[in-house]
Amino acid sequence: MVFAAIMAGGMGSRMGNTALPKQFLPLGGRPVLIHTLERFLRVREVDELFVLCPPDWIDYTERQVRQYLGDAPVTVIAGGSTRNDTLLCAIHHVYAHFPVDEQTILLTHDAVRPFVTEKMIVENILAVQADGACDTVIPATDTIVRSLDGDFIHEIPVRSELYQGQTPQSFRLAELRRTVESLTPEETEILTDACKIYTVRGKKVRLVAGSPTNMKITYADDLPLAEAILRAQGE
Ligand code: CTP
Repeated sequence: MVFAAIMAGGMGSRMGNTALPKQFLPLGGRPVLIHTLERFLRVREVDELFVLCPPDWIDYTERQVRQYLGDAPVTVIAGGSTRNDTLLCAIHHVYAHFPVDEQTILLTHDAVRPFVTEKMIVENILAVQADGACDTVIPATDTIVRSLDGDFIHEIPVRSELYQGQTPQSFRLAELRRTVESLTPEETEILTDACKIYTVRGKKVRLVAGSPTNMKITYADDLPLAEAILRAQGE
């Protein structure tokens, strides 16, 4: 089976003072989260879709999902206090409610990347079937400068080897669980990205092509940009 976990457990503090966490802000008149869910609902390879939201926002999220998506097969559950905790909630939810075998796939996606495409989702599934894990990325366009002290350049890595990580990030669920549970408390503090956990453990993570339009809404200025992309896509 293929499960998709939409990570909506954050509070969007970098957006500044908004009444709602950014995943609930309107984009083209509908909440950002709803756009993201609609993208996944269109992909027939996805068997189960669930949203992880802040515990205090479960009722609100459930109402939004029903208002905009009716009785679409979307389950709302509580996320955790960090993104990694939310990932753990997703893993535990599947284990608690479904049979899991070595082929079971978990896609994880940021609720605040509403322009994920069907192609990206399907390619994530194919990449996990072939290689066990994948990350959606785009080639770095800016020169990336590395500084150890924030004052002077330490090095400038070769740009052609650099990519920017997006989501979905996808995994064979059983292997993901074993890998995450193998972390020491110190590693859990540092390794905030599931693909990084795999890399540190010497496990392969396949690259899947993302897109600049698969942007993450992070700052207030990102919303007008997202509105422009939505208009350009004719939605
Ligand atoms: N996320 C999550 N659970 C958390 C924290 C984040 O599911 N405890 C989700 C967010 O809701 C978002 C995605 O992970 O969809 C990407 O994280 P980010 O952009 O950092 O979101 P926030 O944590 O909400 O933002 P900020 O860091 O500005 O507070």
